[in-house]
Amino acid sequence: MGALIYPIILIGSMGAGKSTIGRRLAARLSVSCVDLDAVIVEHAGCSIPEIFEEQGEAAFRALESEYLKTLCQDGNNKVLATGGGAVLSEANRHVMQQSGFVIWLDARPEILARRIAGDGNRPLLKGVEPLQRARELDAQRRPLYKACADLRIDTAKCRVPQTIRTILDAINHS
Ligand code: S3P
Repeated sequence: MGALIYPIILIGSMGAGKSTIGRRLAARLSVSCVDLDAVIVEHAGCSIPEIFEEQGEAAFRALESEYLKTLCQDGNNKVLATGGGAVLSEANRHVMQQSGFVIWLDARPEILARRIAGDGNRPLLKGVEPLQRARELDAQRRPLYKACADLRIDTAKCRVPQTIRTILDAINHS
C-alpha cells in the first residue's frame, strides 16, 4: 500500500455504515479515522440531538461545514466519516471533491430503516416512522451523493470485508 496523499471521505445516509467502515478502513491503512459528528460534539460540548434542539438544524449545518472544511484541508491523511447530510451544501460537496477521494456507501431505504430504527441519537428520526424518513431523505439526497462520489458501493451487496477490499483496490488504482 503506497502512502496516501489525501483524505478518504465516506458519504452516505444514516445507517449506511460510514463509521464502521471508516474505522476498519483506517486500521488497514494505518491512518486515523475521524468521525465528523464526533468532532462537532467534542467542540460543541453537547450531543447532536442537543445541538438540533437548542440551536436548530441550521446551527448544526454551520458547524458541520466548518469542521468538514478544516478536516478536509488540514493536510493530514485520514479516513473521514461524514454525517448523512454533509452533501446538502454545495460548498461542502465542492470541498470534499477537491480535497479527497469520496466514497458513497449506498443502501436502499428499506435496509437503512431497519438499521436506524430506534436510534435516539439521530434528531431527524424523532417522531417519524424510520422507513418514511429514510425514503424522503433518499429522494432528496441520492442525486447529491451521486454527484459528489468518486466511487459508489452498494453495502447491501457487499459485506464489510468485501467493501474494504473494493475501497483498497480503488485507492491503489486511482
Ligand atoms: C444527519 C446524519 C447524522 C448526523 C445528524 C444529521 C443527516 O449522521 O450528522 O444527525 O442529516 O442525515 P449519521 O449519518 O452518521 O447518522
